[in-house]
Amino acid sequence: MRHLPTRTTRRRAVGALTAGLLGALGLTGTWGTAGPVQTAGAATSAVSASAGSASAVSASASAAPGLDDGLALTPPMGFNNWNSTHCRAEFDEAMVKGIADIFVEKGLKDAGYEYVNLDDCWALPARDANGKLVPDPVRFPGGIKAVADYVHAKGLKLGIYTSAGTKTCNDAGFPGALGHEYSDAQQFADWGVDYLKYDNCNNQGVDAKLRYTTMRDALKAASETTGRPIVYSICEWGENKPWEWAADVGHLWRTTGDISDNWGSMLSIMKQNLPLAPYAGPGRWNDPDMLEVGNGGMTDTEYRTHFSMWSVMAAPLLIGSDLRSVSDETFDIIGNKEVIAVDQDPLGKQGAVVSSEGGRWVVAKEMKDGSRAVALFNETGSPQRVATSAKAVGLPEADAYTLRDLWQHRSYHTAGTISATVPAHGTVLVRVSADGRWAVHPPAVELGVDGSTLTEAGRATALTTSVTDLGRTSAKRVSVSLSGPEGWRVRATSPTTVGSLPAGRALRTGWTVTAPAGTPAGSYDVTLKAAYRSPSGVRAESVLPLTATVAVAPPSGTSDLGRLPWLSASNGWGPVERDTSNGESAAGDGGPLTINGVVYATGLGVHAESAVEYYTGEACETVSAQVGVDDEEGADGSVAFEIWADGTKVASTGVLTNADAAVGLSADVRGAEVVRLVATDGGDGITSDHGDWASAQLAC
Ligand code: GLA
Repeated sequence: MRHLPTRTTRRRAVGALTAGLLGALGLTGTWGTAGPVQTAGAATSAVSASAGSASAVSASASAAPGLDDGLALTPPMGFNNWNSTHCRAEFDEAMVKGIADIFVEKGLKDAGYEYVNLDDCWALPARDANGKLVPDPVRFPGGIKAVADYVHAKGLKLGIYTSAGTKTCNDAGFPGALGHEYSDAQQFADWGVDYLKYDNCNNQGVDAKLRYTTMRDALKAASETTGRPIVYSICEWGENKPWEWAADVGHLWRTTGDISDNWGSMLSIMKQNLPLAPYAGPGRWNDPDMLEVGNGGMTDTEYRTHFSMWSVMAAPLLIGSDLRSVSDETFDIIGNKEVIAVDQDPLGKQGAVVSSEGGRWVVAKEMKDGSRAVALFNETGSPQRVATSAKAVGLPEADAYTLRDLWQHRSYHTAGTISATVPAHGTVLVRVSADGRWAVHPPAVELGVDGSTLTEAGRATALTTSVTDLGRTSAKRVSVSLSGPEGWRVRATSPTTVGSLPAGRALRTGWTVTAPAGTPAGSYDVTLKAAYRSPSGVRAESVLPLTATVAVAPPSGTSDLGRLPWLSASNGWGPVERDTSNGESAAGDGGPLTINGVVYATGLGVHAESAVEYYTGEACETVSAQVGVDDEEGADGSVAFEIWADGTKVASTGVLTNADAAVGLSADVRGAEVVRLVATDGGDGITSDHGDWASAQLAC
């Protein structure tokens, strides 16, 4: 990922222009003895983020006081056009009004969505003769006030955008508010604006804390003249660790660079935001960027994970898709009130990582009523058992607990184990409470699968399923079924029913599954279902959606991995490229694979965090490649490369940078069904991490 030079400012010097602007506003004295270029983060809190430790679950919020103005006591919810339109022409008054209408008609307003926010490109490039901002008359013929009035009439609120720089981020160069803070804030307030997103482009190297604090004060002064409070969203991409200093500056602050509509981007942002849990609280939220749900670049399973994890992280929920054209499934996801209630819980705790191992994550959020929202998240490309316990997520000791599945909308009880087989890239989200009425709910059962759901057409694959009673009481009249697409042969090779399944015990069933010969390579839905009753006769059901993958057998001999079909590929910036470097976010925009001046004809161009999986069907011997950071960014890249054979890391490099020559990496992959090529960010975020798997080969 390349930040355009206009967007990131690495220089710390305050230019003459800026010093002039600030001086004119009388701001240079704001910092007393500390001076105007006090280093951001000087007033840090002592709280350190501790991802992966159970103690983080109960860690108290950061020591810094908040704004205490009663705003954003729960994470802001609403809409912002950026993720769906960027600056394209469809971003206009009709869109904004249309979204406000849909908020009301589709029940999203009732579900809590409130702010309808305009992003970049709403203004004309030049201010008027009085230095005032001018709305683009083509996009907003009635001006911003008219849009605000429309939105307010629906009981909703309006948000706007500008940058804490001389211009906004768009190349067309719309006016930014640096040096115009008080005048622009007053204009926003006069229009009836309720929310400002304040970006970071073209900031002239002026200290971030100073820039963002000036706008805080300007917004406060302006809103006092109108009586309309303004939520203040700091968007400096986490560059100056705003979580350490912005609690009394803004109500929320971006913690990362921009999200894009793909799995790798969402995952990388989630991982950067998770450790910041101790800094969040009412009126001061970590903002891992807006939602991509409904934009089409991820599966619905992945979007449910995105929405689940943003809710467990108490993130702002700003819908980023054009609701005038999204699917019913999108409305089901963003409209899930049980999940929204996790995000909006008044205690205002951001969920913390309880455990994370091998891509299996447990994240728990303490809720005001004493319950815990628990996300069992599977980062990997195959189903995984993810497990924890009532004790580990911080619940008090009890005979049993009520467990509510927030996506299936079903209640069960558990004796204490909180576990599930989670589909690839999926999240099971439950809310668990120590509740004396647990016995009214049937026991929870855990569904499991052993064996691979990867297969070749026409070849039978064997599986074993299990149904395990997690409750205090027996499950009665249990029956299990496995169903595949039409034409597939699914046969049980052992019993599928049992009259009574005692607490803690499992019904295991063997199966063979055969996709008909000629089935095209791809993913197919297979569903495992258990139906049963509680001892008092209450019917219960549990469903595990699975994906069977029909793969092409690996070719014998030595093949270029850049030219073989892969099973799956995820990438931190744009798509994985074949035989070229990663390039930018578009497909096919890479250059020749080049490591330290050496050009390679074949291989893969990736961007951390990346994983590319190949089916090797237990028929291959070695994977080899020349790996390194591609020259295309010139500097700042740091990537570590790993080769995995099924669940085992079989080869890896240390962190490589632009200064390093290619490293030969090779691994023995005998017996593996799947080989995975992983490129990590080297531990410092993904900026400029363009990795090459040059001359990558598979020998079978
Ligand atoms: C930056 C911000 C984005 C978006 C664009 C608009 O990249 O981080 O969220 O507002 O600017 O140009």
